[in-house]
Amino acid sequence: MGIMRLGRVEARVLDLEKSIDYYSNVIGLQLMARENGTAYFKAWDEEDHHSLILTEADHPGLAHLAFKVRYEHELDEFEKSLETYGVRVNRVSKGTRLAEGQAIRFELPTGHLVELYHEIERVGNGLKLNPDPYPDNLKGIAPPQLDHLLITGEDVQGATDLLMKVFDFHMSERIVTLDGEQLLAVWLFRTNTPHDIAILKGPNGKLHHFAFTLGSWNDILHAADVLGKNNVAFDVTPTRHGITRGTTIYFFDPSGNRNEVFSGGYIPCEDFTPVTWTEDQLGKGIFYHMRELNERFSTALT
Ligand SMILES: [Fe+2]
Repeated sequence: MGIMRLGRVEARVLDLEKSIDYYSNVIGLQLMARENGTAYFKAWDEEDHHSLILTEADHPGLAHLAFKVRYEHELDEFEKSLETYGVRVNRVSKGTRLAEGQAIRFELPTGHLVELYHEIERVGNGLKLNPDPYPDNLKGIAPPQLDHLLITGEDVQGATDLLMKVFDFHMSERIVTLDGEQLLAVWLFRTNTPHDIAILKGPNGKLHHFAFTLGSWNDILHAADVLGKNNVAFDVTPTRHGITRGTTIYFFDPSGNRNEVFSGGYIPCEDFTPVTWTEDQLGKGIFYHMRELNERFSTALT
C-alpha cells in the first residue's frame, strides 16, 4: 500500500499565541494540545490526532513534512529501500512528539526533512454513525483537511526521482525549460488529488506554502471573506490555477508562512499522463486568469 497521504506538516512560527489564535479562529482548525512551545491541530474531518504542528522559533518555515503509510511494517521496508537508494535514514522514537508512534526520517535532495509514520493516536471526526455532513461550532474558514504542500529546492529532478522510484509517487504536472531538458517544477500525487507534494526550483529547504482542502468555488469565496474580515495579508485573491485546474487563494500566516486554500482540480489515477508546461507559459500555469506571476510568488519563501 505504501504512502497514503501527506499526514502532517510542522511549521515554525514566531509567536505561538498569535499563531494559535490565527490557526484556530481564522483557518478554523481544532487545537488538540499544546506543550513546551508546540501546538497540535487537526482539521474537522480528519481522524488522526493532528495534521499541523506549530513550533515556536526565531524564524518561520518548514520543520518537517510527513507522509502516513498504511502499515507499520512498511517503515522497515522503506528504510531498506531508502538505504539501497543511497539515502541515510534515522529513526524517530515513539513519544518524541505528542500522540505519535515511531517514524523514519530522511532528507530530500532539496534539503527538506521528511518523515514516514503509521502510528498516531486516532481521535476520529465524530461523524461515523448516522452523521450530519459537518459538525457544529465550526469557526473561520474551517477546511475539512490538510491537502498538500509546495517546497523549493535546487535539485527538483533528484527529489522527484526519489519520490517516484522509492515511494511510487506519480507525476500529474511539470514545468520544463523550453528545450525540455530541465525540470523546473513538478506536481506529484499518491492520493486521488492532483498533488500531495509539489517541488519548485529555488533555494534549498524552503517552504512555498501548505494548503488546506475546500469543497467548492463558493467555499473559496467564503474563505476570502473570512480572510478579509480578519485583515489577513493576501498573496493572491481567489483565482484558478492552470496547473491542476484547482481554484485557490494564497495568503500569509502571522509569521509569513504562505497558506493556501485549494478546491477542485481533476482526479488522477496511477495511469495519468503528466501534463507539461513550458517555462514561457509559467504565469498562465500558476495563475490562469492573470497569466503572470507576482514578484512575491518566487521571493516570499520561509
Ligand atoms: Fe498549492
